[in-house]
Amino acid sequence: MTNIIHSGISRRRLLKWGAAAGLLTGLPIFARFEDFLAQARVRGERALPVPALLEGEVKNGVRHYDLAIRQNRHAFVPGVATATFGVNATFLGATLRLRRGERVQMNVRNELAESTTVHWHGMILPAAMDGGPHQEIAPAATWRPVFRVDQPAATLWYHAHPHKRTGRHVWNGLAGLMIVEDDAEAALPLPRDYGVDDIPVVLQDRQFDADGRLVYVTSMHDVMMGMEGDVPLCNGAFQPVFEARRKLLRLRVLNGANASFYNIGFSDGRPFHVIATDGGLLQKPVQRRRVLLTPGERVEIVVPVGEKPFALVSGGQTATGGGMMGSMMGGMMGGMMRGGDLPKHTFLTIIPAPVTESSPGLPDRLAELPPLRPARGLRVRRFNLQMGMGPGMMMGMRAPFAINGKAMDMNVINEIVPVNTDEIWEIRNTSPMPHPFHVHDTQFRVLSRSGGAVAAHEAGYKDTVLVDGREVVRILVRFRDHVDPETPYMYHCHILEHEDAGMMGQFTVVRA
Ligand code: C2O
Ligand code: CU
Ligand code: CU
Repeated sequence: MTNIIHSGISRRRLLKWGAAAGLLTGLPIFARFEDFLAQARVRGERALPVPALLEGEVKNGVRHYDLAIRQNRHAFVPGVATATFGVNATFLGATLRLRRGERVQMNVRNELAESTTVHWHGMILPAAMDGGPHQEIAPAATWRPVFRVDQPAATLWYHAHPHKRTGRHVWNGLAGLMIVEDDAEAALPLPRDYGVDDIPVVLQDRQFDADGRLVYVTSMHDVMMGMEGDVPLCNGAFQPVFEARRKLLRLRVLNGANASFYNIGFSDGRPFHVIATDGGLLQKPVQRRRVLLTPGERVEIVVPVGEKPFALVSGGQTATGGGMMGSMMGGMMGGMMRGGDLPKHTFLTIIPAPVTESSPGLPDRLAELPPLRPARGLRVRRFNLQMGMGPGMMMGMRAPFAINGKAMDMNVINEIVPVNTDEIWEIRNTSPMPHPFHVHDTQFRVLSRSGGAVAAHEAGYKDTVLVDGREVVRILVRFRDHVDPETPYMYHCHILEHEDAGMMGQFTVVRA
């Protein structure tokens, strides 16, 4: 039992309890990797890796992207090679640039020794092209989905999604960003020079053993809490540094963690503007000092660089969403579940270049969003997120992780949804632990939270939404086209270990 309770606690905390060294028995010994990290800290100055930008190649009016999934070795800290997975890279993947209105073909070659899939998270596209667990790519096979990009400019992402193995594949590195562009966004005076003032920022954390190997799920605790690590990574690097050459930076931030929630902000508490969420631009910039990002969520933020170095961090004061955070920490299990607070990490240090070039000022209007006034009498579909706990898990419930009493079953379609019809989806979290709820093939709007007001930055298009412990969140959902009664899409908790353990369901979109 000791292992199960303590193995999820951060190493930092564990080391603080030096006196209780007995607790360390049976746990991985981190000393050597800790040395590596310490050296990296001293040597410092590792430049932020900026993933290659893949623009694709147009053939016969279709833009082709070649992606190769490979087993690799990656140096998270200089001098230590770790076995990883990557997509055209040693860890994580290239950034794909897509243009609204274009037809695209992805050529995804699987060079792993096992099957996997690649899901286009946030993309509105036919179910057969979605890359969920039904679109397995066998080893040595190439999957070639074709679809039309037809949604507003946004920061989306892709990641592995094989049945019951999503957590491990993403942990090993199978994820990358997609940038969708359109004319409306292109007409705005926003930073958009990739790698210069428009920066991809993939936030994750990992656990390593003494030899610098990735450690994945070693106990029931890791499944219940979701897999968290104590080493923060930014684009796959440990605490890198970025030299800013413009006065404003646009950061496209993805919480690409398996399970960790990051309350992001800057080390000196400087304010920044949120300009976009999962599905694209907000109506207008929203000023914040902190934003809570749960796994799968993205925000685009614009921050002034100023004169002094500063860091992108998580944790610290929860100047945001008091209700949610409060209940998360004060909840019955809160203290145990998340170690009493959210992880505190330093992800990225930003250093102003000796001379910074000026940037255009932020526009005060970004996009026109339809007003949030759902018609009366819309169908309400209910989703109860369920998590069996402790002894009850063994006895009472059929599945420890379930939605509406059922664990994910590849052969069961849980919901049949009419195309192009507004619906209200009511997501009720019956557990005390917060779950980020994600729906494929749509960008929805958040209507209400039982735990408090919907924050201004949550008012835009979303595909993943936090449902706090015991909370009920209502969203307005519509699946615009892509009728296919045979092939399902997924909805699920985006804590990947919960998803893999069954907190997922399937729906088809049919003729209305
Ligand atoms: Cu990002 Cu079904 O997942
Ligand atoms: Cu998705
Ligand atoms: Cu969950």
